[in-house]
Amino acid sequence: MKTNELKRRHTFHNNEPEREEFFDAVAAGLEREQKEFPCKYLYDEQGSRLFDKICTLDEYYPTRTELHIMQSNIDDIAGRFGDNVLLIEYGSGSSLKTRILLDRLRDLSGYIPIDISKEHLLHSASELKKQYPDLNVLPVCADYTKQFNLPDNADAGARRVVYFPGSTIGNFHPEEAIDFLRTISKVISRNGLLLLGIDLKKDPIVLHRAYNDRQGVTAMFNLNSLVRANRELGTNFRTDLFKHYAFFNPSPGRVEMHLISLEDQKVRLNGTTVSIEQGESIHTECSYKYTLHEFEQLAAKAGFRVDHVWTDEDDMFSVQLLKPLL
Ligand code: AVJ
Repeated sequence: MKTNELKRRHTFHNNEPEREEFFDAVAAGLEREQKEFPCKYLYDEQGSRLFDKICTLDEYYPTRTELHIMQSNIDDIAGRFGDNVLLIEYGSGSSLKTRILLDRLRDLSGYIPIDISKEHLLHSASELKKQYPDLNVLPVCADYTKQFNLPDNADAGARRVVYFPGSTIGNFHPEEAIDFLRTISKVISRNGLLLLGIDLKKDPIVLHRAYNDRQGVTAMFNLNSLVRANRELGTNFRTDLFKHYAFFNPSPGRVEMHLISLEDQKVRLNGTTVSIEQGESIHTECSYKYTLHEFEQLAAKAGFRVDHVWTDEDDMFSVQLLKPLL
């Protein structure tokens, strides 16, 4: 291996959000009429681990359904990519679903996993390097909702394919999702592709179960937000006095996750205190669900055309290939 080749294989781009950014986001969220905690901060090391556990739960249908759709249609999907592809994954986590793509796309020019959780990202990247020794893995730690740079040594004329699985786009409000898709269209340029996982509207009871699992893993995942804030920001949320509450809200078409305070609390935040009343909630996550038609319209507003949709037999989840309209 040549030395520049060696260097390339060990590039790691660190854009991890600073503590100050986390603090500002939490402080701003707590000032609102409906208190909020920005959901991207659910994914510290422990949060990423708990999320991985959620993905294995019986009630949490999205992960296994998406995996199944990917496995059943991988030839079709890969066939639409063509050769000489640079694969860029937003929110790569443990890169579980990506392996289906990596197994099939043997001649990738590179794979760029992007994640906000640094240790988790680096661990997954080193596992991938072991399992795919010929693959050019270029991890980027970043909050991908913000501006960040891709490694400039990644592609020489390769077709950029962005992979954004898991229905993570559901965490954005629709207007934000449109903006985000526009950003992606700039990253991939005209001949690029976007492969998305989109969770579909379904029986609210099924949704309810998926976000209220019997083992309470989702509750722990939700509560971990406050554990993290206490550790990293010096807040003193009484984590034993908050209760996980998640439900499907039909009109905006989203699952909302909240933490409800069981008592009046005063929480320390740098110099000030924030009062939280008994019964008041902190809204920690939105997870929008779409019909195929709704999502097609959203994509069009962002300048994308839906090229192909793959679903499971029960229409629980969809994998969609989008192309820039122009
Ligand atoms: C990975 C963000 C799409 O919204 O279903 C799982 C996160 N939250 N259980 C989702 C999540 C509660 C998940 N996303």
